Amino acid sequence: MRTREALLPDAEEIYELIATYSHDGTLLPRTFAEVCENVRDFVVLEDHGHIIGCGALHLYGPHLAEIRSITVDPARQGSGGGERLVKALLAQARKHDVNSICLFTRIPEFFARLGFTMAQREDLPDKIHKDCCVCPRFHQCDEVAMVRGELPKFAMLPQPANWLVKIEV
Ligand SMILES: CC(C)(COP(=O)(O)OP(=O)(O)OC[C@H]1O[C@@H](n2cnc3c(N)ncnc32)[C@H](O)[C@@H]1OP(=O)(O)O)[C@@H](O)C(=O)NCCC(=O)NCCS
Repeated sequence: MRTREALLPDAEEIYELIATYSHDGTLLPRTFAEVCENVRDFVVLEDHGHIIGCGALHLYGPHLAEIRSITVDPARQGSGGGERLVKALLAQARKHDVNSICLFTRIPEFFARLGFTMAQREDLPDKIHKDCCVCPRFHQCDEVAMVRGELPKFAMLPQPANWLVKIEV
């Protein structure tokens, strides 16, 4: 079993892995087009040439990245693949010199083992602006916000003129 950066030909398998867990809200749904567009965010978990897991690191900016769309084929869970994926995504964050990594999850115990601690979602305005604002469960969110490293000190929110500016939080 090994992890590697995803390539465009992996997009279909990534799409299918995510779809397995998006119908019940465990993972945010991703269209095939979104997976293709963002394929460079992904790391895949491979075993004998077969993709059995994936995860993505979304870069908000130098102040924050988010682990998302992380999943292992149900038939292959419990063999250390999920942990490998998280570690590979943390290595990607280090490569980009980002020290604050967030995620939203229903299984905080899994991520706590890997150095994540609970946070308030209000501490992560980038995430609220990107996903939460358009989420049908915004007012009854059952996910826990977690952060590894320092909380971000600012947010990058789009302005009407489409410029990204730093907003002190
Ligand atoms: C979460 C997930 C990626 C973990 O993958 P995995 O390959 O089963 O995980 P690992 O085998 O690397 O587990 C590492 C450790 O975490 C523990 N763990 C695994 N899943 C867990 C969970 N849901 N809750 C708490 N601990 C968990 C394992 O018991 C293992 O501990 P051990 O080393 O003491 O045995 C996988 O269960 C999955 O795809 N779940 C559905 C999608 C999902 O919930 N993704 C997360 C969205 S934020």
